[in-house]
Amino acid sequence: MRRAGDVLDRLRELRAADAPTHGGRVLSYVYDSGLDELDELADAAARLARPLNGLDPTVFPSIAAMEREVIGFARRMLHGGRSVVGSVTSGGTESCLLAVKAARELWRARHGHEGRPRLVAPATAHAAFQKAALLFDLDYDPVPCAPDGTLDPADIIARLDDDVALVVVSAPAYPTGLLDPVGAVAPAAADRGIPCHVDACFGGFVLPWWPKLPAWDFRVRGVTSISADLHKFGYAPKGVSVLLHGGRDGRRSRRAQFFATTRWAGYPVVNPTLLGSRSASPLAAGWAITQHLGDAGYAELTGAIRRTATAVRRTVAGIRGLVVLGDPVGPAIAVVADETVPPADRVDPHRLADALVGRGWKIQHQPGFTQPGGVRIPHSAHLTLTPALEQGIGEFTAALAAASDEVRGVPPADAGALAAAMRALGYGEGGRVPGPRAAWMLLRLAGAAKVDADAPLATLMALIERLPAPVSEALLSELLARLSDPR
Ligand SMILES: Cc1ncc(COP(=O)(O)O)c(C=O)c1O
Repeated sequence: MRRAGDVLDRLRELRAADAPTHGGRVLSYVYDSGLDELDELADAAARLARPLNGLDPTVFPSIAAMEREVIGFARRMLHGGRSVVGSVTSGGTESCLLAVKAARELWRARHGHEGRPRLVAPATAHAAFQKAALLFDLDYDPVPCAPDGTLDPADIIARLDDDVALVVVSAPAYPTGLLDPVGAVAPAAADRGIPCHVDACFGGFVLPWWPKLPAWDFRVRGVTSISADLHKFGYAPKGVSVLLHGGRDGRRSRRAQFFATTRWAGYPVVNPTLLGSRSASPLAAGWAITQHLGDAGYAELTGAIRRTATAVRRTVAGIRGLVVLGDPVGPAIAVVADETVPPADRVDPHRLADALVGRGWKIQHQPGFTQPGGVRIPHSAHLTLTPALEQGIGEFTAALAAASDEVRGVPPADAGALAAAMRALGYGEGGRVPGPRAAWMLLRLAGAAKVDADAPLATLMALIERLPAPVSEALLSELLARLSDPR
């Protein structure tokens, strides 16, 4: 046996290679409130709930009690009345998956099992909805947005027909930080008898305290479900989100998300979410934080985010060659090169992201995306703004300006030669999709077989943009799969 202390030392050693989770230096993935007491409270609550199994809240009633209180908090926050019900899930993806599954069951109840329903969403909607369509057998119908990510409600409303099981809008969309026109889309969907899901996984625990926004939650007629992640701006550790169902069919919709069977040899199974046995620790941590912060606590933390957003936008406005994409609200912004100035003055967002790593800051590369129909959303860098960033905001804005000066005029990475080499090997548009061995060979050819936390990513992103999607998806899957192959 290995000594417990040695095992933990080894974990500490491994953790030293991770990007910093606290202090706001990583502007994606992590959501640091900046309050140590919240982390300590979450740890203590998670530990208390550690031995429980969320599989059966009749045996462990504390689980049902915490879930009721979390759902109660979320539905007040999102202006849902007493008819709004919901579940605690393991994260944003699971909440989105279950919203789609529930809508598909209700659609089948109305239309039978013969046809194939459609899922309509803006092209900026989170990838979780593509996954949901794939898993639950719907046709995914993405609606193109303007190059700045703006969705024209008429474009999405024009797609609403009898075969649509669910229409999705975001509050806000992750890639752009833009709030979709919920007030136009949801009532139009309701008039056609189509449910409307607001994906507030990202903004659900921030936008309720953001001033002067148009209504986007259960106040809007036609909004039938909302997802909101406790493990993002709810400031809980990973593994917890909520999915709420409202409207006339709210209870029916929530039931449709369940799986139940008495048709096997074991205990009767009722799973409200996708998992069977599940940890109650993330729920306990999320519950404790909502109890502790309450409305006032979230309002205060949102105030800190608003101040950082103002500072960052003011800084970007002063940087020649760099602009904010569209007009975001809330805690995300995307920056792009200013195409109105000569190339020598432009700041390429991916060059900027790579240069910031050397200064101790990580913003997130987003490849350009050519939508169905051909309109391109340019490649950008995403910034998730957290309360913890406020402390270092002066240092961050100075780094942003200095790194922009460093890369101004450097052209975007060009993966043209690499993409041509891959085309020559048969992996071009309409060509082959590489299997595991070929994908690994192509990654090595691209010099991307090893990517660590500090690796420059501009070239890999440019390659992703140029390759046919099935090829780039195979390469990225291979990259990730190899990481967990035993050495
Ligand atoms: C708008 C939106 N929806 C869904 C998700 C998926 O959430 P998760 O990563 O928790 O599965 C995200 C994640 O960033 C998001 O921003």
